Amino acid sequence: MKSLQILLLLCTFGVFFSAQETFNPVKISVYYSVYCDNCRAFFTAKFGPYYERFKSWIDLDLIPFGNSTHKDEGNFEFVCENGPDECVANKWHTCANWIYKARFPEEVANFVNCTLWRDNMFFDDIADCAKKCRLDFLPIQHCVNEIEGSIHLAANAARTSEHVPEITSYPTIDFNGTFDQDLQDLAVLDFKAAICSLIKNPDTGAKPDECNGALMMVPFYSVIISALGLLLRV
Ligand SMILES: *[C@@H]1O[C@H](CO)[C@@H](O)[C@H](O)[C@H]1NC(C)=O
Ligand SMILES: *[C@@H]1O[C@H](CO)[C@@H](O)[C@H](O)[C@H]1NC(C)=O
Ligand SMILES: *[C@@H]1O[C@H](CO)[C@@H](O)[C@H](O)[C@H]1NC(C)=O
Repeated sequence: MKSLQILLLLCTFGVFFSAQETFNPVKISVYYSVYCDNCRAFFTAKFGPYYERFKSWIDLDLIPFGNSTHKDEGNFEFVCENGPDECVANKWHTCANWIYKARFPEEVANFVNCTLWRDNMFFDDIADCAKKCRLDFLPIQHCVNEIEGSIHLAANAARTSEHVPEITSYPTIDFNGTFDQDLQDLAVLDFKAAICSLIKNPDTGAKPDECNGALMMVPFYSVIISALGLLLRV
């Protein structure tokens, strides 16, 4: 009986760890602007619907800046294609990402999705989205109003202008740090197909279940096995 319990315990952990190991996240760098229609369409209609399913495979790297210019290096003067509000909107994304990405990547992705569904990013929309996505609003607001917001927006400006090849449309999406036109075209058309062309189970080489539309069964089995172990104990 004892050895059976140990076996079940090992089994549970074995399944748990092998499930963890299968994730080799792909870094997805999105160069975009909050006021660019194609960018909003990408996040809300292509990326958003699949984020939840693929989040373990995704390291989302956001570069909000878009077709704007950073004019004065000393005074952080930005000129945005659609006016000053666009620069501020990009700063909100920049700050939320900068402050929370390392600790709460999922919440940041949801915050970006939430704000891009709104027609305008008014103050109330942003506060509401922060609350809905369980991000503390005050640090983000502080960053936007202080110099940090400009510093980090300027960093996005630098990354945008240094992109190879030169960016000709937004969003521009790099996978694992490289731009590939075919993947870009696929990603804006069918994000699931793009991510699935890149990820595979490192042990078996098979496509992960997420790509087949099936639910992730591994955590489910692991729960069943744990429950069995508990039952057998009595
Ligand atoms: C992307 O990079 C990660 C980390 O370096 C690696 O594990 C993964 O295999 C890469 N994926 C692709 C498709 O290159
Ligand atoms: C994105 O936001 C919309 C509108 O608020 C919501 O219906 C949808 O579930 C969100 N998607 C994700 C992946 O969070
Ligand atoms: C950026 O904006 C300028 C001026 O509106 C326009 O001529 C140019 O085509 C835009 N470039 C991109 C990549 O959207």
